[in-house]
Parts: sequence; C-alpha cells; structure tokens
Amino acid sequence: MGMSKVLVVGGTGFVGRRVVRASLAVGHPTYVLQRPEIGLDIEKLQMLLSFKKEGAHLVEGSFSDFQSLVRAVKLVDVVICTMSGAHIRSHNILLQLKLVEAIKEAGNIKRFLPSEFGLDPARMGHAIEPGRVTFDDKMVVRKAIQDAKIPFTYVCGFAFAGYFGGNLAQLGTVLPPKEKVLIYGDGNTKVTIVDEDDIATYTIKTIDDLRTLNKTLYIRPPENVVTHKELVEMWEDVMGRKLQQITISKQDFLASMKGMDYAGQVGVAHFYQVFYEGDLTNFEIGEEGEEEASKLYPDVKYTRLDEYLKIYA
Ligand SMILES: NC(=O)c1ccc[n+]([C@@H]2O[C@H](COP(=O)([O-])OP(=O)(O)OC[C@H]3O[C@@H](n4cnc5c(N)ncnc54)[C@H](OP(=O)(O)O)[C@@H]3O)[C@@H](O)[C@H]2O)c1
Repeated sequence: MGMSKVLVVGGTGFVGRRVVRASLAVGHPTYVLQRPEIGLDIEKLQMLLSFKKEGAHLVEGSFSDFQSLVRAVKLVDVVICTMSGAHIRSHNILLQLKLVEAIKEAGNIKRFLPSEFGLDPARMGHAIEPGRVTFDDKMVVRKAIQDAKIPFTYVCGFAFAGYFGGNLAQLGTVLPPKEKVLIYGDGNTKVTIVDEDDIATYTIKTIDDLRTLNKTLYIRPPENVVTHKELVEMWEDVMGRKLQQITISKQDFLASMKGMDYAGQVGVAHFYQVFYEGDLTNFEIGEEGEEEASKLYPDVKYTRLDEYLKIYA
C-alpha cells in the first residue's frame, strides 16, 4: 500500500500536534483542519503555520459548518481525530459525531481513528462516576462509527507519561514531588505509562497496516509496564535520594473527591481505575482480537520510562 493522505482534526492539541508531526516525519501527505473558531489564539495559529512550513496543508473547516467538514474529509484517505477529552483541559468527545456523519457522507475514507489514545473504553463498563463519562462518550462515538460501517482503528495508549509518569502519578501537578509521594494502595498494581510522542508514532504506523484494520491497537511497551512503587524507585534512582512514601487507602483516595470541582473528580476516578482497579493491565492483549504496538512495530525505539524521567531531573 502507498502512503495514505491524512487529515488530522484537532491538530493543535496535546496529542494532535504530535500526530501531525509524526505523520509529516514519515512523509504522509498531511492535512490539518484549521478552524475559524481559533479566533485570536495566536499560539494555535502559529502552530498551524509551523506545520505548513513543515509541509502540511491547512484546510479551513468548522464543526458548525457540516459541508466544510465533508469537503475536508474528501481530500484524504485517512482521518485522525484528536478532539479534546481530558476534563482538566476540555471534553468534547461527542462533537465527533458530526465528523462521523461527514465521513459517512463523503464516502471515501479508508480508515478513521477517533479520539481515544487512553484506556480502552470497551473494557470500562464497570468504571465509577463521574470518570466513566470519558469511556461512555467514546463508546457512543465507536457505535456511530460502526453503525455507519466506517473502517476504523482504535488506538489505546493507556496512561500518558506527562500525566502519570513525570509527576510520579501525583494528582494536581505535572511535576515530580520533592519530598513526599502518595502511594496508591499497596503500590503493586501494574500500570502502563507511555510517552505521548510514541503514541503518535504508533498511531501513524497503524493507518496503512491491514493488521489493525477494524481493530483496537494497544500500546503496552513491555519496559513501560511498572508498579507505582517501581515508578517511584526509578525516579529515586535518577535523583539519587529517597522520597517519603505515604500510603493512601482506596477509601481515603475516593473520599478525596469530596469538595473537588468536576474535572478534579473525573481525575480522581480515572486514577482510581488505573491504580486501585488495575484496569490498564488486568487483561491479556488479544483476548478480544486486539493487537499490541511494540510487537507489531519492533522497529520503533520507544522511550523507556527511566529515560523519560531523566528530563525532569
Ligand atoms: N490516558 C491519558 O493519560 C490521556 C491524557 C490526556 C488525553 N487523553 C485523551 O487524548 C485525546 C486528546 O486529548 P488532548 O488532551 O490532546 O486534547 P486537547 O489538547 O485538550 O484538545 C485537542 C483539540 O480538540 C479540539 N477542540 C477542543 N474543543 C473543540 C471544539 N469546541 N470544537 C472543535 N474542536 C475542539 C481543538 O482542536 P484545534 O487544534 O482545531 O483547535 C484542540 O486542539 C482525548 O481522547 C483524551 O481523552 C488521554
């Protein structure tokens, strides 16, 4: 197969900008939606212009103008949507239903990758409130894709290193703690923590690969599967000194939601699923037909967690 033409929707976002760069890096003709709603956001505009300088095509289009989405979709073979879905920033996952409609109307798309990139929503039917909204909304989008018979790949990158790694998985900060670290439960639950740049690289790898057509791609690089305690030890090795470890029970952790704003509560609920329920690792990959990225693409030199942590030192 040749190099598909790719449209990235949400290209200036946290994940989106990485996907645009990964697509350009391997030479896909890359199109990025440029929304008039960016208004005076000079950072977004300058990022879009920097993509253009690197060879991307900017395509004007808006979620308030359905035909503009159809026109944008008609230019390409593959659509990757990186719509916002982290409540601490914003959560607009269901807006993608308009994009699904546009893809259906355009009728030319060989593959659609909706905004996923985290936990597999299909395995999160048991998730607690209010965090489950993320998974429920992503499942609504999946259903619309499958009802419309649009070819797809769902990419699950599990826990992003920026939110779960560098801060030693401490809530409310993206920096490593200096003295004390909260350990969730016994700290022995295995979690998968992945560099967001690697998620983008694997995402682009998958788009022309028939092995992942109509499948879910899990990104679980073996050396990045660690317990919370192992993550803290890795950081202690980097720093050459120990942190004071304070254990927090499941009950106390959940009780910490009280009085928090909605985004904070969603964050606590997600961390609960990851560190207390073990929802990143309590299943075998492949039991539902999924593929694993580091096995499919052994040529990708993914970032090992211990290397990743060194940038914070
Ligand atoms: N598992 C994890 O650790 C983790 C962490 C973070 C995120 N995620 C997942 O990653 C995905 C992407 O999240 P993100 O943090 O990268 O998102 P983000 O940076 O907050 O936003 C991505 C893009 O969404 C678009 N957008 C936002 N509001 C919009 C609106 N009203 N209309 C049209 N477009 C709008 C914007 O696109 P423009 O570029 O066009 O302005 C924005 O740049 C989500 O599915 C999220 O759940 C997972």
